[in-house]
Amino acid sequence: MARAWSLKARPQGMPKHTDFAMIDLNQSTLGAGEVRIANRWLSVDPYMRGRMNDVKSYVPPFALGEAMQGGAVGEVVESDDDGVKVGDMVLHMAGWRDEAVVPAAQVQKLPALDVPPQAFLGQLGMPGMTGYFGLLQVAEAKAGDTVFVSAAAGAVGSTVVQVAKAKGMTVIGSAGGAEKCAWVKSLGADAVIDYKSDVPVVKALGEAAPKGIDVYFDNVGGEHLDAALAHARMHARFAVCGMIDVYNSGAATQLKYLARLIGNRVQIRGFIVSDYMNRAEEFYKDMGGMLAAGTLKRQETVHEGLETMPDAFLGLFSGGNTGKMLVKV
Ligand SMILES: NC(=O)c1ccc[n+]([C@@H]2O[C@H](COP(=O)([O-])OP(=O)(O)OC[C@H]3O[C@@H](n4cnc5c(N)ncnc54)[C@H](OP(=O)(O)O)[C@@H]3O)[C@@H](O)[C@H]2O)c1
Repeated sequence: MARAWSLKARPQGMPKHTDFAMIDLNQSTLGAGEVRIANRWLSVDPYMRGRMNDVKSYVPPFALGEAMQGGAVGEVVESDDDGVKVGDMVLHMAGWRDEAVVPAAQVQKLPALDVPPQAFLGQLGMPGMTGYFGLLQVAEAKAGDTVFVSAAAGAVGSTVVQVAKAKGMTVIGSAGGAEKCAWVKSLGADAVIDYKSDVPVVKALGEAAPKGIDVYFDNVGGEHLDAALAHARMHARFAVCGMIDVYNSGAATQLKYLARLIGNRVQIRGFIVSDYMNRAEEFYKDMGGMLAAGTLKRQETVHEGLETMPDAFLGLFSGGNTGKMLVKV
């Protein structure tokens, strides 16, 4: 019997293990045009925290007691569709479970790039596209710019660091702890800020970028966003990708330096990666070229077994991952 994680209760603040429950899935026969997929890799992503709240958003909330959804890569083991064959490796959104039955129209065969399949949940998948288009399109970053990126050791952030370096920018990354900072440096960052040290981010950023920053790629919000405002140069562009600092607390962010955006004509733009999904070919081509040239490094933090899925998810909020957080089924 296939199994899936469901949301048992809507979390208040930081989610707890008791907010999740494993359920059995009754999906013994395929419907017309459906495929059965043995999931091999499951993604946990910070945006899933938003889906646990019963609020209107750009994705609907998870329904209580039902299988949760999320990015997954798996092998087709049964098919009622001529275009998808048994043995195909596919990307789809019926994650949080060991086996998925979905319409063939909702799966994507993995692009022909020389990477392991799980890379399409990370650097070559949704988080990678977020970093790539957020940096180059939303923030309009260009060669010569000084770029500051928070959560730089994570899936999105580590892509931003490497794409920015590959495109001729100066990069300052922020991450929690010496080990992660060393890894971000090894990706090519010119300077790294350990935001968990005693030095306030605003001071550390001033030292790392004495002439200020042209671009801020925000994954965190809060103190990081305020520090970026404090050091924004004239006509700086901010791509606001995420604010993980407030996903659990919901607390209002205090921005001491917000008014600086007026005099410095700072442009702040939020975005959702789905705005750029129709440009996937361009992304695969450029990232594929960087992969072939050895410009991109990839790292994963892997939890083993469907049972570990809540642990992996909760780990995102305590810095438990370097690179992409994944569950191997
Ligand atoms: N707009 C979009 O379409 C879109 C798409 C994908 C992702 N996102 C957003 O992008 C951000 C990164 O996502 P991801 O998938 O790449 O996750 P990730 O960075 O791989 O994992 C989350 C990381 O955030 C850091 N973190 C957690 N709580 C923090 C806090 N309070 N302050 C500072 N850092 C904190 C931790 O690293 P440290 O150890 O360094 O603290 C953790 O490892 C998230 O905000 C996510 O919601 C947005």
